[in-house]
Amino acid sequence: MRTRDFGRTGLRVSERGFGAWAIGGASFGAVPAEQALDALARAEALGCNFVDTAAVYGESEALLGRFLPGRRDRWIVASKYSGQPQGLTALVHEQLRRLNTDRIDFYQLHWAPRGKDEALFDELDALKRAGKLRFVGVSLRSAGDIDHVLARPGIDGLQICVSLLDPDPLLARLALLRARGVGVIARSVLKGGFLTGKYDAAARFTDPADQRRGWEPARIRMLAQQARAFDFLAASAGSLHAAAIAYPLSFPEVSTVILSCKSVEQVEANLGGAPPAALAPALLERIAQVQRQLGVSPASSGVRLWRRLKARIGLA
Ligand SMILES: NC(=O)c1ccc[n+]([C@@H]2O[C@H](COP(=O)([O-])OP(=O)(O)OC[C@H]3O[C@@H](n4cnc5c(N)ncnc54)[C@H](OP(=O)(O)O)[C@@H]3O)[C@@H](O)[C@H]2O)c1
Repeated sequence: MRTRDFGRTGLRVSERGFGAWAIGGASFGAVPAEQALDALARAEALGCNFVDTAAVYGESEALLGRFLPGRRDRWIVASKYSGQPQGLTALVHEQLRRLNTDRIDFYQLHWAPRGKDEALFDELDALKRAGKLRFVGVSLRSAGDIDHVLARPGIDGLQICVSLLDPDPLLARLALLRARGVGVIARSVLKGGFLTGKYDAAARFTDPADQRRGWEPARIRMLAQQARAFDFLAASAGSLHAAAIAYPLSFPEVSTVILSCKSVEQVEANLGGAPPAALAPALLERIAQVQRQLGVSPASSGVRLWRRLKARIGLA
């Protein structure tokens, strides 16, 4: 497993990280604890050293609290505050207990705070000075969020969606991210599983513990069709799944991609094998063309606007 700098923190993170939401068992189907612990151990054996969790990911933090003793120094642990009513500082203390650790390596606000919520940044600073949090940042959504958050000093890293179907906001803010030298965690790299090629337009999610339950058939149809537009990548990357992982890692501004892993099999598929090779510039150009055609690129807001308008006036 290759490692990359996490911004200017001095941390070296594995370029493929363990997304620990699914092992929490509350959002992508139930996961037995032993299966989750085996998955984490296999990830470690494959050289993964970065795990992303949150207090809202079911049993995820508690499982890490069982897993980490005896191997704490081998892992860089990221977690989040999602606006819990007890407040940020009280939650961090609970999380430290749950995670069985004395510090969290990278701590994120789960949204880009505005207005009075911006006082949370001072609270993060205080927790950092106290040594409870080593580095801090924000998990956010849009290019505007990136501008807003990076207007402040003291931000060590960001977490954003980056996939073949979500080139924005990364591409829209590459220069700023580079100039600020923040760590960048890419999430939703597999777009809910659609970029593995395992779902077609007829897919349905019925498990009551699956957060995708109730997704509109129209949304599933659209995601399946959009994912197929990248089938051509299989020839060079080996599979759509491999290309989906290689895409964010083709940008040096990205520090790590966090991949959803809830079993040893998924760990092997996502974190095992040869390190993903960066996609060639000509291939990235072709991807950008497809993204423009699909209306998902930063440059295609006009296309998106036209589609929304068409849908509204019943032409879609
Ligand atoms: N900050 C935030 O707001 C936020 C939001 C979402 C996620 N995250 C983080 O990002 C991590 C990744 O989650 P995500 O939602 O971004 O995931 P994702 O890349 O969009 O994909 C997750 C889905 O991919 C499927 N999958 C995973 N590995 C696969 C494989 N090898 N073959 C076939 N299917 C596979 C899983 O299917 P199954 O259901 O079959 O397992 C899962 O449903 C999370 O664990 C969490 O740490 C953060």
